[in-house]
Amino acid sequence: MLDKVKEIYQEIEQFNVASKDQLEQFRLRFVGRKGVITELFEGLKHVPQEDRRAVGQELNGLKNFALERFEAFTKTIDEQLSAADSTPPVDLTLPIVPNLTGTQHPLTLVRQRIIQIFERIGFNVADGPEIETDWYNFGALNFPDNHPARDMQDTFFIEKKSGTEQESADDVLLRTHTSNVQIRLMERHSKGETFRPIRSIMPGRVYRNETISARAHCLFHQVEGLYIDRNVGFKDLKDTLYHFVKEMFNKDTRIRFRPSYFPFTEPSAEIDISCQICGGSGCNICKHSGWVEIAGSGMVDPQVLANCGIDPEEYTGFAFGMGVERITQLKYVVNDLRLYTENDVRFLRQFEGL
Ligand code: PHE
Repeated sequence: MLDKVKEIYQEIEQFNVASKDQLEQFRLRFVGRKGVITELFEGLKHVPQEDRRAVGQELNGLKNFALERFEAFTKTIDEQLSAADSTPPVDLTLPIVPNLTGTQHPLTLVRQRIIQIFERIGFNVADGPEIETDWYNFGALNFPDNHPARDMQDTFFIEKKSGTEQESADDVLLRTHTSNVQIRLMERHSKGETFRPIRSIMPGRVYRNETISARAHCLFHQVEGLYIDRNVGFKDLKDTLYHFVKEMFNKDTRIRFRPSYFPFTEPSAEIDISCQICGGSGCNICKHSGWVEIAGSGMVDPQVLANCGIDPEEYTGFAFGMGVERITQLKYVVNDLRLYTENDVRFLRQFEGL
């Protein structure tokens, strides 16, 4: 029996543990309930009575030796493993990191929605230049030279033909509104024998010489609308815009037509809707009035029709122009215009999946 104990001492001393597997082998052989030491303890009953005590002590010593070794090995193996953990191996079973795709810009989302609403009621989409002459941006739209209405829209001029402050129809500028496309469309549709009726919307970018702030920007977006045919009346304008507002916002949104002035429409109205942020009870977006302006509109002035070669005795029409930024602000509660152009992904990602 004591020889056996000596043998096991030796075996334990020589046993080298360098991995978790080897640690487990050590445990099974020396520490576990089916290990060699337990076996020796079982053999104790065959040891003569007088030697039993001494052999028992010997065995306990061996057992403690095995346990101490086991604990020491466990500690080193654990340390090795946690050190290895800090540089983890590639785990091929992990799910893949999703590939982030871009999102549509909120202004794009809203422009598409506006187009969709008008297309469903028979409008098509038209386009025109952003670099325009004074004639298309102002003159044909009935803005007389030196008229104060031009001051409403601080213009970026590219080329002043006269070289002075004096306006000239050929001056080149960045369009201040999308109404220039109205003129181009009307001209195109009145060429030829008979006038071809127009029912179009014209989305586009416009420019005004404004200091950039939370509320103003030097570039922004509008969607212009134009409907010209026989017997088009103010009621059609109202119907169309009522429909638009209910579709864009919701059925409970209230609409108000407020008399206004534009050189190219008569009568003219600005369109306010009940504030989408506070529901009409008053907040700083609606300046505590409960209403926010979203568009200008009116019946196309007969003089403008005539400027474009359309007989105002035969045809009438309405026009409107709305601000895309404003509609987006109301729909998604965007309080600072600068967010649209700063390209901060934290802002843009909020429109994912819309
Ligand atoms: N062009 C005008 C503006 O920018 C809006 C407008 C468009 C008004 C069409 C009436 C008709 O303020």
